Amino acid sequence: MTVNFPPDFLWGAATAAYQIEGAAHEDGRTPSIWDVFSHTPGRTRGGDTGDIATDHYHRRREDVRLMAELGLGAYRFSLSWPRVQPTGRGPASRRGLDFYRALVEDLLAHGITPVATLYHWDLPRELEDAGGWPARETAHRFADYAHLAAEALGDRVELWTTLNEPWCSAFLGYGSGVHAPGRTDDEAALRAAHHLNLAHGLGARALRAALPGGGKVLVTLNPAAVRARTETPEDRDAQRRVDALATRIFTGPMLRGAYPADLLTDTAAITDWSFVRTGDPDIIKHPLDALGINYYAPTVVSAATDNAPSPADGPSPWPGCTGRVAFHQAPGKRTAMDWTVDPTGLYDLLMRFTREAPGLPLVVTENGAAYDDKPDADGAVHDPERVAYLHAHLEAVLRALGDGADVRGYFLWSLLDNFEWAHGYSKRFGMVHVDYTTLTRTPKTSAHWYAKVLRTGQLPTA
Ligand code: FCB
Repeated sequence: MTVNFPPDFLWGAATAAYQIEGAAHEDGRTPSIWDVFSHTPGRTRGGDTGDIATDHYHRRREDVRLMAELGLGAYRFSLSWPRVQPTGRGPASRRGLDFYRALVEDLLAHGITPVATLYHWDLPRELEDAGGWPARETAHRFADYAHLAAEALGDRVELWTTLNEPWCSAFLGYGSGVHAPGRTDDEAALRAAHHLNLAHGLGARALRAALPGGGKVLVTLNPAAVRARTETPEDRDAQRRVDALATRIFTGPMLRGAYPADLLTDTAAITDWSFVRTGDPDIIKHPLDALGINYYAPTVVSAATDNAPSPADGPSPWPGCTGRVAFHQAPGKRTAMDWTVDPTGLYDLLMRFTREAPGLPLVVTENGAAYDDKPDADGAVHDPERVAYLHAHLEAVLRALGDGADVRGYFLWSLLDNFEWAHGYSKRFGMVHVDYTTLTRTPKTSAHWYAKVLRTGQLPTA
């Protein structure tokens, strides 16, 4: 087995604007769907919002210094659309861009490669009011925004990601409604998925047009590592359905220029897909420089039966699966999210895309775990479970590298504890602990462990 990571491997950590920045009303920023959602009673745990979050907007220098002390080679962050282009239309906000410009300059001054994500779920409220992702127009607005961002920062940022996890935007945002904007409409969710695909294609073109030579374009997906509980044809069919809705709905058009036929059949009772216009697949299939993969835990499914009923009727992020597919907890240890720790899922995904998209480099754009970390009496935060999680998943990356996967980098989710969407501040994913009363940052044991791994390019043996 390969024991060393390649010398030019990109070692990083990831965050997202709404989860860390705070400064929700400053310097011309307007509300996003997440501001509206988190301020709606009952939507997030304890009514938590991103109004202050980790206050990264004001603590940017300290946070970049921390990254430099840990020796990070790269930092994946997202731009807040309503900060860069308030209301989602018209010219860019100079003050909004100034923040990202300063962040990028700080990173580069410390030798840290910036990796910018254009969309990590914070759609400007006005665009949701005009129809949101189920409306085609939103994809065009995204392309304009991509152009503005690339024009402003493209001379300093080489690596760009269009979307983060469009599955969550479409199916949690418009299907189950557990994420902003909280709509529950199967047809709208499928439309949203298509318009996110279209936004990716149009946005990728806008980036290419505005970036100087050498700019690189990625997309980040959260493909499901989905397994059938048994090898029966019924369970295998449940796996196929979920794979189509979770993964191939994006990789089909993005990598092959077509929606999978089985997806169209499975969802025929919900929509005839006439919102896909001639020419859209060609736009979506834009050559990528790398594919970003986010992975946390596997998904186990079976056919729904009397013994394994599908979750009750009602809003679901899996249109067309009610009454057909049952979801099961994978065996093994679980994190504070109740997600099973299973590094084989990451290995399997890396090998799958190595086979399905030969020649396309892969980047693990997110991987990590939440635990209930608490400072001990002397203020130190020991998180041995996170160290074990990271170790096991990096081992899976090494195994994939050894088996021929072209993995170029790994980004730990997350740099800091932060606003974990509907869970609010109750789930801590950071390698750096944040005390939400004082906003003090304390690197956990895992941060020191990770710093050593990236310095040596090796996993410790003990
Ligand atoms: C991913 C999101 C990220 C974070 C992690 C735990 O789905 O991209 O913002 O919430 O999960």
